[in-house]
Amino acid sequence: MSEIKYRPLTPTFGMEITGVDFSKELASDDIALLKQLWIDASGMLLFRDQNITPADHVRLTSYFGKVQDDIAIQAPVLAHYLLDGYPEIYRVSNKKIDGKPLGREDAGTYWHSDGSWMQQAPRGSILHAIELPSVGGDTIFNDMGAAYDALSEPMRTMLDGLTAMHTVLKAALESSYAKEYAGKLDQAAQKSATKPVILRHPVSGRPALYVNPGFTSRILELSAAESDAVLKMLFEHSTRPEFLYRHQWRLHDVAMWDNFTNMHFAVANYKAHGWRLLNRTTVLLD
Ligand code: OGA
Ligand code: MN
Repeated sequence: MSEIKYRPLTPTFGMEITGVDFSKELASDDIALLKQLWIDASGMLLFRDQNITPADHVRLTSYFGKVQDDIAIQAPVLAHYLLDGYPEIYRVSNKKIDGKPLGREDAGTYWHSDGSWMQQAPRGSILHAIELPSVGGDTIFNDMGAAYDALSEPMRTMLDGLTAMHTVLKAALESSYAKEYAGKLDQAAQKSATKPVILRHPVSGRPALYVNPGFTSRILELSAAESDAVLKMLFEHSTRPEFLYRHQWRLHDVAMWDNFTNMHFAVANYKAHGWRLLNRTTVLLD
């Protein structure tokens, strides 16, 4: 009998799951239930007290799809943040050892959806909290499905069928990603893809807004001025408080999200309060 229980984190999205221990292999019916809950929670799942090894982290990732193991190829600027021996695990951290950063500092300190600039964007990302500052360093998530539902009918109709350019160049020019891409803007410019503004989820079919301030530079069918105005409105709309869940990390939390229905934002306010280290895996569509 499965011990899995869950409770909502907000009225529209996010669930905290209990009764799961990722340090052990899960039974196939539990895995099937978690995959269903990932959809039911509109993308955001939280598991507390998961004292897991990197190998456990990779294994739990495999329950949800194909584990990405070519981060060093897709994003060469992140190659030196990978965990030794684990091409699947990339580290987010402000820690340095002998002056060498252990992970990427200031990863995602702006609203974004991971890899939306890739032709085949990754479905999910899974963080495991290994070291935390005494205060601060939260991550904020949003619900792009609820944001879509809250748009007026004429606005939804107008947006449906439009496409947008997503490019790393935008993040490299306007955000903390500039640190990684300094002197490599030509590389950033090559990383781009065109995506629908309203994305139907590849598994559930549910529509969601799919433009993000980090990477979306232009709605292609509109004039530049129209695109700027519509994107500004959509960015403000989708980050309204009622669409947000703010996660205050505890040690050994595992939190995962679905890049097709959630954006996220790392709050970089913690640096005077200690080290922060999270291991991250990425999960592709099956
Ligand atoms: C990421 C990311 C947010 C955080 O790992 O993709 O954006 O709070 N991290 O570290
Ligand atoms: Mn991110």
